[in-house]
Amino acid sequence: MPTARFTFPRGFLWGSATAAYQVEGQNTNNSWSRWEETPGKIIEGQRSGLASDWWSGRWKEDLQRALDSGQNAHRLSIEWSRIQPTADTWDDKALAKYVGMMRWMADHHMTPMVTLHHFTDPLWLVDRGGWESEEIPALFARFVRRVVEALKDYVSLWITINEPNVYIMGGWVEGGFPPGKHDLKLAAKVTVNLLRGHAAAYRVIHELQPEAQVGVATNYRSLVPAHSWSPLDKLPVKIQDQLFNRAFNNALVNGKLDLVFKKVNLPEVAKTQDFIGLNYYTRDIVSFDITHPAEMFGRRYFPKGALVSPTGFLANVPAGFWDGLRWAHKYGLPIIVTENGVEDDTDALRPRYLVEHLHQVWRAANFNWRVKGYFHWSLVDNFEWESGWTQRFGLWGLDINTQQRIRRKSVDVYESICKENAIDSEMVKELVPEIFDQLFPTG
Ligand code: BGC
Repeated sequence: MPTARFTFPRGFLWGSATAAYQVEGQNTNNSWSRWEETPGKIIEGQRSGLASDWWSGRWKEDLQRALDSGQNAHRLSIEWSRIQPTADTWDDKALAKYVGMMRWMADHHMTPMVTLHHFTDPLWLVDRGGWESEEIPALFARFVRRVVEALKDYVSLWITINEPNVYIMGGWVEGGFPPGKHDLKLAAKVTVNLLRGHAAAYRVIHELQPEAQVGVATNYRSLVPAHSWSPLDKLPVKIQDQLFNRAFNNALVNGKLDLVFKKVNLPEVAKTQDFIGLNYYTRDIVSFDITHPAEMFGRRYFPKGALVSPTGFLANVPAGFWDGLRWAHKYGLPIIVTENGVEDDTDALRPRYLVEHLHQVWRAANFNWRVKGYFHWSLVDNFEWESGWTQRFGLWGLDINTQQRIRRKSVDVYESICKENAIDSEMVKELVPEIFDQLFPTG
C-alpha cells in the first residue's frame, strides 16, 4: 500500500515546552522553593533539587537532542527570582545566561518562545502580597522590560503568563499551589491583577519590539455534561467552562471580566493578545451532584472507556482537543498549541496520545484554522509541582540520581512527524500499530 500522509502547513513550528522551575534546578528564592520546604505540600516530601540540571548547563545537551530529533522551536520560561533576586537588585549574570541560551537557539535555527511568568514568584514579591497586591502590574512590567530589552534580538514570540486559570485555581481556590488559599474573593482580585499585569507587559513588549507576537497560555479543559438533555448537568458545565476556560481570554478581547457571580470592567486590557496559546491535556464528564458545592455542583470524572495515564491524572481524549482548538479558533487570531502531553513513565500510552492529538491539529489546519505550531509538554522529565517526580511528562526520561537521559519510543514517533512535517502511515504502522486502522482505514 502506498504511504498515506497527514501533512502540516509549511513553516509549522515543531517543539517542546519546559518551565524554568521544573527543569533548571537550584531555584531557592521563590514561592515554590518555600512551598517545597513546607511539610505536606509536595508528594512524599520530594524536592526539585537539581531538577533536570539546566542551570548547570544541561539545557544545551537537551536542546541539542531536540534539534537532532527534528524540533525547530522550543518554549521555555525565565525565572523572575533569578533576574531580580530582591526588590532593588538585578542579576545581570543570570540574565546573560538566558541570553546565551537564546543565542544558541538562534545559531541553530531554533525558534524560541519565551514565557515570562510560569507559576513561580520571587520571595520578595510574595512578601509584598504578590499578585494580590495593587502594585503587581507595574512590578511585573518592570521585570518584563528588563528581560525583553536583553532578549529582543533573539525572541519575538512571548507568553506573558502561563495558565492564569490554573495558577488562580491552584493558589486561591483548591489550595494545592502557593499561597494555598481557599478564598474566592481574593481569587477574583488576583484574576483582575493578572489581566492588568498581562496588559502592562503586552504594552511594554510592543513598545520595545513592534513586531512581537504576544499571548497567554490557557489551560483548556474540555467539559461535557453527563447527559446532554439534562439542564442539571449542563448548568455546572456552563459555570465551570466560563470561569476556567473563557473568562480570562474574553476579557482580553472586550475588556469585560465575567466571573458569573461578579463582573468587572477593565477597558485597559481589551485587545491585548496577538495569538491564542492553547494548552490541552484532557476532558471531564460533568454530572450534577449536590455534594459538590465547591465545583458548582458538578462532579467531574473521565469519560468511560478512555485510556488513563499511570497515576490517573489524565485521560486520552483527542476529541477534547478538538473542542479546545474550536474554542481557540473562535477568537479569530493565530493559534499556537503551547502545551499538550501526558504523564507516562512507561511510555505505553504517550505514542498514541501524541499521534491522536496531532491528528486533531492536522484536522484544524485543514479547515484553514490558523494553527501555527505545536509544543509538546515536555522535552525531558521534570519536577511536576506538587506531584514532584511521580509524574513523568518527558519525551526523554530522566534518572534523577545520575541525570542520565532515557530515550523513549515517543522520541522516534515525534522525530518522524517533525522531520516529515507529516504523520506518515508507515511510521504509524511501525511504531504505533494499535491506532493504524483508526487513522488510516482501508475500507
Ligand atoms: C503546566 C506545566 C505542567 C503541565 C503538566 C501545565 O498545567 O503549565 O507546568 O507541568 O501542565 O501538568
